[in-house]
Amino acid sequence: TSEEEVGEYEKLEQAVAFIQSKFPTKPVIGIICGSGLGGLADLVKEPTRLTYSEIPHFPTSTVAGHDGSLILGELGGAPVVVMKGRLHFYEGYSLRRIAHPIRTLCKLGIKALLVTNAAGGLNTEYKVGDLMLLKDHLNLPGFAGQNPLIGPHDERYGGRFVPMSKAYPKQLRDIATAAAEELGLGSVLRQGVYAMVAGPTYETPAEACLIARNGADAVGMSTVPEVIVAVQAGVKCMAMSLITNNVVLNVDEEGEANHAEVLAAANARQPDVQNLFINICTRIKAQ
Ligand code: 6GU
Repeated sequence: TSEEEVGEYEKLEQAVAFIQSKFPTKPVIGIICGSGLGGLADLVKEPTRLTYSEIPHFPTSTVAGHDGSLILGELGGAPVVVMKGRLHFYEGYSLRRIAHPIRTLCKLGIKALLVTNAAGGLNTEYKVGDLMLLKDHLNLPGFAGQNPLIGPHDERYGGRFVPMSKAYPKQLRDIATAAAEELGLGSVLRQGVYAMVAGPTYETPAEACLIARNGADAVGMSTVPEVIVAVQAGVKCMAMSLITNNVVLNVDEEGEANHAEVLAAANARQPDVQNLFINICTRIKAQ
């Protein structure tokens, strides 16, 4: 074991010890809030709020609309830990650095990681405001040599060669589907394949067509690194995209993706997403 590995794992232990000193209850569920979806964090009951900057070795978030804090408390009757403000690769963090907070949540003892994101719809049947449960993903940065698990291996994080064929277990997708049906969101919730691009540029129409033709239904700039790290740690994942815009697939088409539109569309659906996740937490706690 090299010095470097020991140091990284110790940083993780320090973050975990600090959080446990502020909130001794073991969280059962970890939640990462995507762009425009941070409101869920404000619904946590009896919250303990920790800013990323006060937690040992946590990177701080830089994007507008992402204030970085960890909120611990109860949601839908389940003890949860919520990341309000995620870290994106395009901000300049290495994927290994992005892994640190996720590993921290996993080491706190969560049994499930729930992730939300804003994404562009590639599937032409998708409408703005639709929700897409991830059944699989395309890790496009992975094809270009960017994967959070690249680098010195430490068994304490999990295996070296991590299978990704069951990254989004049906059991959790079924729970989300049942929750959506109970809340009258059954027709809004779809299941599809999410493609991650590094960003921060949105796709060109040619890139969007390339990705769509290879099986992706939605495209965004997050989620995949976090899921990889959680799967390595043996934590079950559920991820949901909010379709904030239809991706332009033809250069002469009207419209252009922009961050304001993404945030507005996410905000419009935010109450539904919040109710859905509270319901999902209750269901996960009950099983
Ligand atoms: Cl169109 N593309 C990407 N990469 N991310 C997005 C998006 C589009 N819309 C929301 N997030």
